Amino acid sequence: MSTAGAPAKKVFIKTYGCQMNVYDSQRMGDALERDGYVRTGAPDEADLIVLNTCHIREKAAEKVYSELGRLKKLKQLRQSEGKPTQIAVTGCVAQAEGEEMIARAPVVDVVAGPQSYHRLPELLHRAEAGGSAVASEFEIEEKFRRLPPASSRQTRARGVTAFLTVQEGCDKFCTFCVVPYTRGAEVSRSVAQITDEAKRLADAGVREITLLGQNVNAWHGAGHDGRQWRLGELLAELSEISGIERLRYTTSHPIDMDEALIEAHGSLPKLMPYLHLPVQAGSNRVLKAMNRHHTREHYFELVERIRAARPDIALSGDFITGFPGETQEDFEATLDLVQRVNYAQAFSFKYSPRPGTPGADMKAQVPDEVSAERLQRLQALLNAQQLAFNRSCIGREIDILVEKPGRRTGQMIGRSPWLQSVIVEENSAQIGDIMRVRVSSAGPNSLSAEALVAA
Ligand code: SAH
Ligand code: SF4
Ligand code: F3S
Repeated sequence: MSTAGAPAKKVFIKTYGCQMNVYDSQRMGDALERDGYVRTGAPDEADLIVLNTCHIREKAAEKVYSELGRLKKLKQLRQSEGKPTQIAVTGCVAQAEGEEMIARAPVVDVVAGPQSYHRLPELLHRAEAGGSAVASEFEIEEKFRRLPPASSRQTRARGVTAFLTVQEGCDKFCTFCVVPYTRGAEVSRSVAQITDEAKRLADAGVREITLLGQNVNAWHGAGHDGRQWRLGELLAELSEISGIERLRYTTSHPIDMDEALIEAHGSLPKLMPYLHLPVQAGSNRVLKAMNRHHTREHYFELVERIRAARPDIALSGDFITGFPGETQEDFEATLDLVQRVNYAQAFSFKYSPRPGTPGADMKAQVPDEVSAERLQRLQALLNAQQLAFNRSCIGREIDILVEKPGRRTGQMIGRSPWLQSVIVEENSAQIGDIMRVRVSSAGPNSLSAEALVAA
């Protein structure tokens, strides 16, 4: 869409953090394409560099400032060659720093929080005229309204799986977490917006959609019948879209796992048997201090109900070791919970105090060596569970969604229903095919399989 004659401006986008940032980066790219930019993978040839940042880890802001230090040199070099270059910082660090960012790093032209990136083209124009522009208001309804679904042309290049944001923000205020401060309050998109985007994705060749939200299962929106729908009903509606073969959603909070959603796992064949259900810790005392609003017993009961609805479901989780006040006994309760639940996959982190969260001010911070040692023990257990789960698939016939060619010629890579990467020696398969295979071997992070000849 560049003006005839003038070469299109190039944009380089670097994404940090969670899947929602990945989604946001794509949509920012779409908005900028409409404004005449083309994407580039090379920062040194970009007229615009966007850092879409994450604030979840310690020293996140410091790392962004050092990256900006490097970009300053690049910008100066380009400008000495007569190539004007803009730098925009978006995402959760942008939200947390706001104006401060321009003051500390004048190399930055635009600062836009996660709720404001739909205004990026306008902010860039404003900065061009007036030096810099900052937007860090929480205006998520406006963002949802102003970001039309990506066009087929833009989505086609993206492959057969896609994310679709249905909910943003968080009202939970876990005492360790910055997300409620950077993403604002929970807001849901409407059923109409979501189904519209899902249909466009299907038209563009997408076969699998993962619904995204910081608290995706807290999603609720007015349905076609005027009632408030919850996620189970939304998934049933999306199941009706032809072309969409697989549905997933992430990330869920245990307290929002309602009966209809659990039942959906039993009744919707397109809903994949995989659930990311973070619990963070296994001791009731720590769960309470984390403000997680539930006990370990509640979690066990929930897992039991989910497995009753869908016996082959694979569970995944997030864990934190060394939360303030965590004793050795509390930590053993986390190991015990992991033993009992038996996860197919998990993420685990050492607690890191985030300024501004209640956890950071708690007494009894756990020494780093202790958290690190606990993390090691926890990860050894989780890794063993993951490997055991992968090995339990050997010999089974499963369906994979073919996503891309493998590293060697003749190989294809697909996804199992349980989100494992599956390498298959097969070159007649097309990307986007659902293909029946027999698993022949399993490693910690992937499976190998043989194609089954269609009967
Ligand atoms: N509900 C969110 C969670 C976002 S943060 C979602 O949609 O993904 C992802 C994970 O990071 C959390 O589940 C938690 O395990 C971890 N985490 C968050 N803040 C942390 C901190 N201060 N220290 C260590 N881990 C943290
Ligand atoms: Fe953070 Fe807790 Fe909200 Fe997840 S539920 S985003 S961990 S505050
Ligand atoms: Fe990071 Fe913000 Fe996501 S802090 S994890 S990018 S919500």
